[in-house]
Amino acid sequence: MEVITTIAGLREELYPRRAHAQIALVPTMGALHAGHLALIEAARTQCELVVISLFVNPTQFGSAADFDCYPRTLERDGQAAEAAGVDYLFAPSTEEVYPAGFQTQVEVADVSRGMEGAARPGHFGAVATICLKLFNIVQPDRAYFGRKDAQQAAVVIRMVHDLDIDVDVRIVPTVRDTDGLALSSRNVHLTQRERQAALALPEALAAGRAAHALGGDPVGAAREALTEAVDVVMDYVDTMRLNGQSLLAGSITVGSTRLIDNVILDPGAQEVF
Ligand code: PAF
Repeated sequence: MEVITTIAGLREELYPRRAHAQIALVPTMGALHAGHLALIEAARTQCELVVISLFVNPTQFGSAADFDCYPRTLERDGQAAEAAGVDYLFAPSTEEVYPAGFQTQVEVADVSRGMEGAARPGHFGAVATICLKLFNIVQPDRAYFGRKDAQQAAVVIRMVHDLDIDVDVRIVPTVRDTDGLALSSRNVHLTQRERQAALALPEALAAGRAAHALGGDPVGAAREALTEAVDVVMDYVDTMRLNGQSLLAGSITVGSTRLIDNVILDPGAQEVF
């Protein structure tokens, strides 16, 4: 695996290989966990060349404190990416991505509204912008995103469609711990007690899914479950569409950590808890 830090360097490497290999891009902010490894695994099985980007994008954080707190584990991430079969790890500096004078922003209107968009103003514009930059830099055949960040995936898919970007966006199922908690880089901030309390989110979404299967109201059932949960503040529960599927999505705050998760509502869809 090669570690590359400049846009020109990555383009130079990929240029001669492009004609003979399908290129996969796995965009990440590092702090790699099994959820990221599932994205890499999907990319590896479907493409000959795998590029993973590792860039903690400052513009998508609501506050400097949140950005500063984001776990940075470059050395461990490099080892994990190499062991997972990544060919190129692209780890640019902030100045490389946003040189002085940078002033362009992509906005994906409707899909960015509500849920995470309401909780984190400006977040999805920043995510869309960095993803578009990464697509332009790498020019991948396929790009891999996790279903846990469902609204983010919907924003990226909409942008790709609207701007005629020649990339196939693949959505990979959420990876969960054995107790059902969706893997997230934020989980490291949870104390043992908070982690236990956080299980209320997948449990509430499962209750919503069960209610829906019986013809009931999934949002109401999940909200009710979260209202009764201890040490948890419910942010939202709502439905959304992703790739033709209906999802039940929710967010809670436990201690000072915000968590998101979702499940597929459609009957017959596999959901593992
Ligand atoms: O999901 C993430 O890790 C980030 O939002 C992404 C897609 C890498 C853009 O910075």
